[in-house]
Amino acid sequence: MYRSHTCGELRIEHVSQPVKLAGWVQTVRKFGSITFVDLRDRYGITQLLFPEALNPQLQSQPLGREFVLQVSGTVTERSSKNNNIPTGEIEISVSDFQVLNSSKTPPFTIQDDTDGGDELRMKYRYLDLRRNLIKQNLTLRYRVNRSVRNFLDSRGFMDIETPYLIKSTPEGARDFVVPSRMNDNQFYALPQSPQTFKQLLMVSGYDRYYQIVKCFRDEDLRADRQPEFTQIDCEMSFVDQEDILKNFEEMTKHVFQEIKGITFNEPFPRMTWEDAMKYYGNDKPDIRFEMKLVDLGETARGNGFKVFDEAELVVGINAGGCSEYTRKQLDELTDWVKRPQIGMTGLIYIRYNADGTLKSSVDKFFNEQALQLFADQCKAKPGDLILILAGKEERTRKAMSELRLEMGERLGFRDKDVYKPLWVIDFPLFEYAEEDNRWVARHHPFTAPKPEHIHLMDDLSQYAKIKANAYDIVLNGTEIGGGSIRIFQRDLQEKMFAALGMTKEEANHKFGFLLGAFEYGAPPHGGIAFGFDRFCSLLGGSETIRDFIAFPKNNSGRDVMLDAPSEIDQVQLDELKLSLLK
Ligand code: AMO
Repeated sequence: MYRSHTCGELRIEHVSQPVKLAGWVQTVRKFGSITFVDLRDRYGITQLLFPEALNPQLQSQPLGREFVLQVSGTVTERSSKNNNIPTGEIEISVSDFQVLNSSKTPPFTIQDDTDGGDELRMKYRYLDLRRNLIKQNLTLRYRVNRSVRNFLDSRGFMDIETPYLIKSTPEGARDFVVPSRMNDNQFYALPQSPQTFKQLLMVSGYDRYYQIVKCFRDEDLRADRQPEFTQIDCEMSFVDQEDILKNFEEMTKHVFQEIKGITFNEPFPRMTWEDAMKYYGNDKPDIRFEMKLVDLGETARGNGFKVFDEAELVVGINAGGCSEYTRKQLDELTDWVKRPQIGMTGLIYIRYNADGTLKSSVDKFFNEQALQLFADQCKAKPGDLILILAGKEERTRKAMSELRLEMGERLGFRDKDVYKPLWVIDFPLFEYAEEDNRWVARHHPFTAPKPEHIHLMDDLSQYAKIKANAYDIVLNGTEIGGGSIRIFQRDLQEKMFAALGMTKEEANHKFGFLLGAFEYGAPPHGGIAFGFDRFCSLLGGSETIRDFIAFPKNNSGRDVMLDAPSEIDQVQLDELKLSLLK
């Protein structure tokens, strides 16, 4: 027996019990002739006391940080208690010990506030994973996983695995591809999601499917994006949008209740995509705070101020009680919107002073009466500050959405312990991809148009107006899930592929299996996939999903611990009949 208890288990009621513990040395402290060691394992830390009698043995077997140690001893009450840890009332009087393994000095301290930088910790991820913080995150991830599974089990969902070596599924990113040794010059694609498989499972009659599954997307990475990530992927048959929203709202509430002890009594708010864009400037609004975007075009234009007159969009926000912002603060904010990531040429402000007077950076063009019109439109009151951006429609809206979030952050409205989920519904079916000069599917090509909009698919000029039965679930400004009601008829699916510019041959080549399946009694169906890493990270109070993944990639898509991706042998290349272009 290596151990009788874990390092997080012993309490005052265990005093006088003989015990055996095993774990890692966190710290060694000499105190006169006695030695104190903090022994750590997954469950906690226990203080060990090595009496003077063990000094000869300690001299022949010195202890160091991260050594693996086994001790036998007796639980005793501590003279100076440590209230910060659950085992803080006791210590182990060691009678015997054995070093099970030594350790090199770790390259960074295994502590909450470690001295290791990001790259170093990634390189030694197995040591980083020993840290409390990451351990808590992975524990939370595991609990969310259990909670989701229990909920879905109770609702009759069946977990069915789907393959990883497949043919491309279009989810809007590039595929990772895998060459096939047995099929010359042919490649598998790793799934961007199990989308087509879950639809085929509906055709097969497995009317409630789920899987907590890896997805692979070769796209630019951000704090909330990894090249391989995990989805809670779900599909249901004989349902409409309402059934899906209801079921997965209940799942979300169940998880919040179990993991955070938070009860949502009210239904989650629902917002149309159009309103989200209009009032928040993006399709994943952070509704922890208001500060809605206000279109000021009519009031702004026609006063001789070129920036406004020539703008496609003039949009403002009421940043609340910030009228005391100094010139310096406003200049800094102007520089902020001028950064390349935001890309604006300037920022206009109107101060509604506490004494009721109005002052702006465009006083030359707008007298106080005119400024009052802006203030009224923004529902401003004395003490408020109005911020205005003007320019090209899309860029300006996006910039204002960023500025709103920035102001929300600066004003402390984005408290990570406050959770505001909502559904965004009625997404457009298509979006125009400027770079390719063509219409693409906003969600994916299997999403059904609203039945009343199907006829518009015959007229290219109407594409922007077609709405889909597609929905996202958004939490605190992050899209944590998305799904749709699917097309389940061959002719409509063919029409959709044609609308996306695919020839019949191409459609058959890429998706013949699905079109074929739709001819054998495909039921109406729909589903959703949650970004599991994102959901976990938000529940854990972070926006960085890396901290919730045991072995993540860095921002260049590298696993710095494995040093992957890496070159492969010439032998392997030859077997695959691949040659490299230098
Ligand atoms: P979608 O592409 O919206 O839908 O993905 C679902 C959810 O997955 C998360 N997500 C990611 N998380 C981390 N890293 C990434 N690179 C990444 N990309 C997406 C997001 C997103 O909401 N097959 C459809 C679902 C369906 O229609 O049922 C799909 O994959 O939280």
